[in-house]
Amino acid sequence: MRTIRLASEDDFDGWRNAARGLAMERVPADQVIWQVGDEASDLFCSEPEAPPAVSTLRVSREFVTLASQAALHAEPERFSLLYTLLTRIVENPLVLRDRADRQFRRAEEWAQNVRRDIHKMHAFVRFREIEEEDGGKRFIAWYEPEHHILRHNAEFFLGRFANMRWSILTPRGTLHWDCASLQEGPPATRADAPAGDPVEETWKAYYSAIFNPARLMTRAMLKEMPRKYWKNMPETALVPSLIAGARKRELGMIEQAQAAPARNGAAALDLLREEAACCRRCPLWQPATQTVFGEGPREAEVMIVGEQPGDQEDQAGRPFVGPAGQIFDRAMAEAGVAREGLYITNAVKHFKYEARGKQRIHARPNAGEIEACRWWVDQERAIVRPKLVLAMGATAARSLLGRAVTISKERGRPIPLADGALCWVTVHPSYILRLPDEERAAAEYRHFVEDIGQAMASLRALPVQPAPATV
Ligand code: URA
Repeated sequence: MRTIRLASEDDFDGWRNAARGLAMERVPADQVIWQVGDEASDLFCSEPEAPPAVSTLRVSREFVTLASQAALHAEPERFSLLYTLLTRIVENPLVLRDRADRQFRRAEEWAQNVRRDIHKMHAFVRFREIEEEDGGKRFIAWYEPEHHILRHNAEFFLGRFANMRWSILTPRGTLHWDCASLQEGPPATRADAPAGDPVEETWKAYYSAIFNPARLMTRAMLKEMPRKYWKNMPETALVPSLIAGARKRELGMIEQAQAAPARNGAAALDLLREEAACCRRCPLWQPATQTVFGEGPREAEVMIVGEQPGDQEDQAGRPFVGPAGQIFDRAMAEAGVAREGLYITNAVKHFKYEARGKQRIHARPNAGEIEACRWWVDQERAIVRPKLVLAMGATAARSLLGRAVTISKERGRPIPLADGALCWVTVHPSYILRLPDEERAAAEYRHFVEDIGQAMASLRALPVQPAPATV
């Protein structure tokens, strides 16, 4: 029996180094005991040993990402199960493709729980102000993460609050920032944190400013934000009035982004992406791995809207990287358009599928789901402000035009949108992929490339606008 001792509950690097060496030595998973910190050794096994030397074992980035997230889960068996998976991948790399595999599903669930916990902590930590002995201020927050995400989230809070002294106290450990260095401390209890004080007013003001109706407390959200967090959140008292003014504020946010110089627009897009990662506007977030948000330059003149992420996009977190993406890339290249210059997004941001045996089969989003997600597409359009929007497929066209669309009737001509952009409609690349007849598929593909060419030509024909000043 081999015993590996990891430095801490979130010691993914320690696990990775040891697991690599063990897997290279072909040590079976049931012969390894994973211990964390000072956990007592099992009486019947050997003393903990130094991890085996790091070797050159290579596994896919996909697995490393999965393992690095799942390793932060509170489940005590996680290191052991991840090592079992690694040994299986070494034997047969295709195991990773088996979406129905029980062990992989378990690790994926853990990774998903951890990602949610990370987002929740970003959103729900609330600081209280205290005066320190030197007369300076310190902001202290009490928070109860479900998983071992505290150290992982340190960077986020350092980025947000670099210029103030703060401490985050949790039952799993503490972090203390003094504007110069970050210290870690032992677990705390709620009694160590101050109760409510005047800084709540600041939070209320802050929360009013950033309030986003996507975070409204629907029943699904109550599950996401259990009542235990509420007591840490003074602004919950504001919610009814915030809801009442939400639409107005939403428009204000969009207008601000429209009026703002490029730098603000980029920040608004980042904020929007972050918000969308927690989207609960419809139930599609539940089975999906993650939100697949749009990508591309903030100032792109052309926005491409697809239907929804597919299986590969769901895992990669990026639009159009799977088989439909390959057709799309080829057609764009043939039409002389560089993908890097496009803002590419989807009408629906979560992968909808039906599990059939080991496979996840694409399922079409319904009108309600398209409508729920349209909020995000509208905001992306408001921030990026493309002059031309290419809707690929009926779902995208419905999202942009707000009505059911028959592609054959609408393609080949520009349709003006309310904000002045031109919308062109064409088929979805998956449609071409699905055609069984090769000749027909080739003809449809040519038509698709022509549609793209025609849309791009209409963009070139638009009068040139003076470039906005930047600061
Ligand atoms: N199909 C889409 O509509 N979007 C993607 O991102 C991938 C496939």
